[in-house]
Amino acid sequence: MLGRLLDLHGIESVILEARDHAYVEQRVRAGVLEQGTADLLGEIGVGERMRREGLVHHGVELRFGGRGHRIAFDELTGGRGITVYGQQEVVKDLIAARREAGGELLFEAEAVSAHGIDSERPSLRFRHGGRERELRCDVIAACDGFHGVCRDALPPGALRLYERDYAFGWLGILARVAPSSDELIYCHHDRGFALHSMRSPELTRLYLQCDAGEDLEAWPDERIWDELELRFAREGWELGRGPIIEKLIAPVRSFVAEPMQHGRMFLAGDAVHIVPPTGAKGLNLAVADVRVLADALARWFATGDGAPLAAYSDTCLRRVWRKQYFSSWMTSMLHRQPDDRDGFQARVQRAQLENVCSSRAAATMLAENYVGLERPDQGTPA
Ligand code: PHB
Repeated sequence: MLGRLLDLHGIESVILEARDHAYVEQRVRAGVLEQGTADLLGEIGVGERMRREGLVHHGVELRFGGRGHRIAFDELTGGRGITVYGQQEVVKDLIAARREAGGELLFEAEAVSAHGIDSERPSLRFRHGGRERELRCDVIAACDGFHGVCRDALPPGALRLYERDYAFGWLGILARVAPSSDELIYCHHDRGFALHSMRSPELTRLYLQCDAGEDLEAWPDERIWDELELRFAREGWELGRGPIIEKLIAPVRSFVAEPMQHGRMFLAGDAVHIVPPTGAKGLNLAVADVRVLADALARWFATGDGAPLAAYSDTCLRRVWRKQYFSSWMTSMLHRQPDDRDGFQARVQRAQLENVCSSRAAATMLAENYVGLERPDQGTPA
């Protein structure tokens, strides 16, 4: 995404991708695009297939106590919604655009280390084609994920880390079966949280809360379907089953590193913040980061005005913490707390969900955050 934005600004960039081409186009990751993310893809000329194949949703269901309650995004946010379109599809469209524009994009190019970020000529060492190479540049954008190497290049003490580990994870599956609902279902149940999502009219994405460190071996397909059925149970509703074509366990974690920049290095996305997946914010936050970064770089290169670039971290962190708040709010409202021995927490959660489903103000808070804030310091304009 950053590469595309820079291409459009006429700024040369080189993208180093550790994995191979096929891997990044097939890897199933996030799938919910906020209104602003979908709009941006359109604006930068890579939204055509998304408009054709993406599924636009105008609400989600909150399910608890065996009943469903719809949160109507369009009505609560002045017509806004989300688009369900797989991250790997976005990646395919961006790679195609990059290739067409002639920008450099190296696959199987593994960054090894970053150097000189306090100088005007930082560099990256990377392995490509069996050789170690060095790339000198004006600026390094650290978009290399939570386990990337760029953060390590910062001097000790340069970053302040904020972290929360949760005592539970998500077990996710992708199944070749039509979704059992037109919209996403976030389900609270005494046995734990469950989520019904989708990737297309033929592919259903489902998740269930499991213990942190759970072993996939302990979850044969039958057990997963039975558990999903128990949690989603609602009169008159049936969960369709089909072949499971992917199974994973994802950690649930919160992480923020501050500031998001140092010298000539600017960190973006999972390299600098992780949100729990309950609000579907990870991809959208990463896109929001690089949008700010691209505009700031364009200004600096074109006019020499470095003020927006100097403010990059502050600008992004306001949004990051707003989304961190929303994601932790959703997470704590919907997940079974493993230490909730007498069920007190579960009852408070149930009351909280009832409040969200009966108060227009509370429902609007959820809807505005879910479809995406226009600006981090504002609600969604009506
Ligand atoms: C997904 O479809 O993968 C998905 C949807 C909503 C979430 C998280 C993941 O909150």
